[in-house]
Amino acid sequence: MSNLQFFPDSASSVSGEVNFFFILMVILCTVVALGIAAFLIYSAIRYHRHHENEMGNQRRNYIPAEATWIVTPFVLFLGMFGWGAKLYFDIERPPDDAIPMYVVAKQWMWKIQHPEGQREINELHIPIGRAVKLTMTSEDVIHSFFVPAFRTKQDVLPDRYTTTWFKATRPGKYHLFCAEYCGTKHSGMIGYVYVMRPDDYQTWLTQGAAEGSLASQGEKLFHQYGCANCHHFDNQGRCPDLRNLYMHPVQIDGGQTVTADDSYIRESILDPNAKIVYGFQPNIMPSFSAQLSQEQVLALISYVKALGPQPGTQQPSSSGTTPKQYGTQPGIAGPNATSNSGSHLEQR
Ligand code: CUA
Repeated sequence: MSNLQFFPDSASSVSGEVNFFFILMVILCTVVALGIAAFLIYSAIRYHRHHENEMGNQRRNYIPAEATWIVTPFVLFLGMFGWGAKLYFDIERPPDDAIPMYVVAKQWMWKIQHPEGQREINELHIPIGRAVKLTMTSEDVIHSFFVPAFRTKQDVLPDRYTTTWFKATRPGKYHLFCAEYCGTKHSGMIGYVYVMRPDDYQTWLTQGAAEGSLASQGEKLFHQYGCANCHHFDNQGRCPDLRNLYMHPVQIDGGQTVTADDSYIRESILDPNAKIVYGFQPNIMPSFSAQLSQEQVLALISYVKALGPQPGTQQPSSSGTTPKQYGTQPGIAGPNATSNSGSHLEQR
């Protein structure tokens, strides 16, 4: 009997509330359904026709009764809706201080990259009490990242990024499932999330990561693929200056303004002509979709992110002009035009 478990482990900041919500929803629906059924049966017996010529009671518009059975369920279920919506937004919106991690799904494994450079397959090590934000994409078909103990499930799609986040509250080892049928070995596309105490996590981080942080791997790719030849850090290159770009608004050809989030940067690497920054020429940058793996694109995004402030934090600005609008003054060097050589990455 000790193995009988009605709920999965509860190990994240939202899992307790999700349980509570679920139980209350079941109770509320049960009570309402049973109440209606009981009243229906009672009325069928109490008010059934007793003889052939009996006429029904013509009394209509019994306002108090009608108001009660309209207003009561309305308030109850709208209340549940409001609570559910609040819970949904909590689950959907990662906090600004979340640790950014990257997930690449493929048939049939989970590949995970830590910002510090560690790579894992079918395993994810995270610290307790810290929000973790996953940015996820797929190399082939649709998968779904599902950690029951965290009450988190998010589809992982090819050609785009989806995100999810969680904050683990109990140390331990928790199941990770693929929850979207993705082919023959779908059922084997499983793994474990290890929730560690902060010291243990720090110890774990110090092992591995021979290649350096994800952003520094991205910096190497940035030079290896010649990105630095056009993307100068002095605003004088043929392509936009990438400093302070991340999560800032970008004015593109056609008058639109977009936010330079992960998806925008990814698209700009793989399909550069999709959105041309205002004031710049199209057809200068080739597509890198054939050269770069999903992991390499994520490393480059990490690098671009490291060149600018994190969302929600103030950027240590030396130029005094933030946020920067690209293309408003194309070709004009900022007051702090710097050399384009050497590392622009500060190691954390
Ligand atoms: Cu991946 Cu199912």
